[in-house]
Amino acid sequence: SFKQAAARAGANIALVKYWGKRDQRLNLPAAGSISITLAGLETRTTVTPDPTLGADEFVLDGVEQPPGRVGAVLDLVRERAGATVACRVESRNNFPTGAGLASSASGFAALVVAAAQAFGLQLSESELSGLARRGSGSAARSIFGGFAEMDPGHRENGVDAVARPLLSAEEWPLEVVVAITDSGSKAVGSRDGMNHTMRTSPYYPAWVETVAEDLDAARSAIAARDFEALAETAEHSALKMHASMLAARPGLVYWNPATLACLHAVRALRSAGTGVFFTIDAGPQLKAVCLPGESERVAGLLADQPGVSDVLVTGLGGGAARAAV
Ligand code: DP6
Repeated sequence: SFKQAAARAGANIALVKYWGKRDQRLNLPAAGSISITLAGLETRTTVTPDPTLGADEFVLDGVEQPPGRVGAVLDLVRERAGATVACRVESRNNFPTGAGLASSASGFAALVVAAAQAFGLQLSESELSGLARRGSGSAARSIFGGFAEMDPGHRENGVDAVARPLLSAEEWPLEVVVAITDSGSKAVGSRDGMNHTMRTSPYYPAWVETVAEDLDAARSAIAARDFEALAETAEHSALKMHASMLAARPGLVYWNPATLACLHAVRALRSAGTGVFFTIDAGPQLKAVCLPGESERVAGLLADQPGVSDVLVTGLGGGAARAAV
């Protein structure tokens, strides 16, 4: 009675960053985070339960991968369904993988929606968010569209470490420009990078202690559609996260010269009155978040920065959803 199912989910970009865990096994974040889910950057995943398979198979963008965390998340779904059948998982991103564009977020969000459907489970969005978190912390947020907040929870079993929606994409349709400054894979992945920062950066305790005040400021700014306040908080959160990485031993430097050129270009634009701010994740791409109507001008400026190979323009999108197989 288990049957093939498909789902899609959008990537998300954190405005208040997640960086560090309180529990490795259950993948519980040390602090909360707030993100926007994107419309144009998405993963589409098909899960096919197949009793003829000896083990799970995972194919990403046409290339066979070790099942790894995908298999571990499937195990959680199978456990809930009382099933043991192996699955073939086929995933496709419509954007470059591994270049700091959060493919694991859209990937695990799409996976849990498709897998729950394949195994006939009726799960709430909150339960789906908790399952997605086991694959990747940021994936918990991609279950929801628009603006979402991840709660770090306080329970040891992690049931309260899930995301929830704050505002839909339609309620504040911000635009997003991604400046691609290096399309290769990142040097140190988020998981290793955050664990290294936790272990060795003297700034990490200060990071964890100050996330809650950024969450309060960002949540209020979003509720009030106060772009200036959101811009100030989001840039602060991104730079503070990178400061904690830089102070690790050895320091983690994710930026390249083009990243910094884009950062200064965005700041100059905002000083001149354009509604735009930047954020940067564990990679060299810069993401510019813009007021509705501003993305074209911002994309033009970022495309002109030395070292920028491409710009993607998109907006906020909906949450993870089932798709036709
Ligand atoms: C810099 O969600 O990839 O993008 O939970 O270990 O899989 P794991 O980490 P991951 O980390 C994302 C880090 C970030 C900031 C963010 O998205 O909040």
